[in-house]
Amino acid sequence: MKVNNQAYRTIWSQDPSTVYIIDQRQLPHRFVIETLTTLDDVAHAIKEMLVRGAGLIGVTASFGMVLATHALTRESLPHATFMQRLAQAGDLLKATRPTAVNLEYAVNRQLHALAHVEDAQAKLACAFELAQQMADEDAEMCRAIGQHGVSLIRAISERKQGETVNILTHCNAGWLAFVDYGSATAPIYAAHDSGVKVHVWVDETRPRNQGARLTAWELGQHGVPHTIIADNVGGHLMQHGQVDMVIVGADRVTVTGDVANKIGTYLKALAAHDNGVPFYTALPSSTFDWHMRDGVASIPIEQRGEDEVHWMDGVDHDGNIQQVRITPAHSPATNYGFDVTPSRLVSGLITERGICPPTESAIRTLYADKVSS
Ligand code: MRU
Repeated sequence: MKVNNQAYRTIWSQDPSTVYIIDQRQLPHRFVIETLTTLDDVAHAIKEMLVRGAGLIGVTASFGMVLATHALTRESLPHATFMQRLAQAGDLLKATRPTAVNLEYAVNRQLHALAHVEDAQAKLACAFELAQQMADEDAEMCRAIGQHGVSLIRAISERKQGETVNILTHCNAGWLAFVDYGSATAPIYAAHDSGVKVHVWVDETRPRNQGARLTAWELGQHGVPHTIIADNVGGHLMQHGQVDMVIVGADRVTVTGDVANKIGTYLKALAAHDNGVPFYTALPSSTFDWHMRDGVASIPIEQRGEDEVHWMDGVDHDGNIQQVRITPAHSPATNYGFDVTPSRLVSGLITERGICPPTESAIRTLYADKVSS
């Protein structure tokens, strides 16, 4: 995607000692590139949400394993000890954000790839190549999601005889949540780029406001018409025919089609169901949990610090980023990061292989090579 007309990915690296990311905490006010050189830098970047979003968290963790490997090559360790220390590095990364399954998938893929590489320098080369490959795969999967998902938007546009298609999205499942294109946004960008008239209702997404801050920013950079709405507005808009479809992302989708996504997604799905508005989830296959069946009971839901509810940040009149408290000094708060939308409320899953109903049989058919029965 382009920022001020220059093409960027959300993460990149030219050698196995250094990784570059965009510090998303500073958007939309400042575009700041951060350099990561250690495993701890990466763990901090994921936990404190300099990077965030399921796909990007996974690829960042993969590069985190590269930096861990880079540090271990200096210690002349026997293979078994090397792999044990690398597994510990992986555990540290996995603990940073529990809900996005991409994180676990990325760490395990690196450990699996290095398990039979004896030489330390060869391990480093292998880890670096795999991280680059995972970044490319993530971008390619999102591009393909866009190509499949755009058909849904085109169909609505045709039904409306070319009138604007109004799409509601929650949180940021955009370019910033992946390496490029995004999941929920990929069909929207593809539609906009091909001349279909679209307009996006952007849920602000309390408490961290990923919609208001990030989705609005990236849609704006790409020239897509959009309007930010408070989190509670969507139901009203749906009742009045102002939402043609909902597209959200996912942090984990069970093999039965239950969708974990940013807190508040479930309420939008309920409102969409009540109003007959199609509700789609866009995801790359790295977001499926092939082993989990009951999302509500089993998907681990991250609970974050209560300060994210008490405090908000933004810029003051002089352009300085400031934090302000919005709650009484002594009121407690609780901060669930995600919720689960049961598959019965989901109209379809937009994947890199096509659009499928959120049912176990359809998912198993589409991904027969990945799901073991
Ligand atoms: O807590 P975040 O910002 O990492 O939340 C994850 C998300 O961005 C959303 O839940 C998103 O819709 C899915 S990630 C592609």
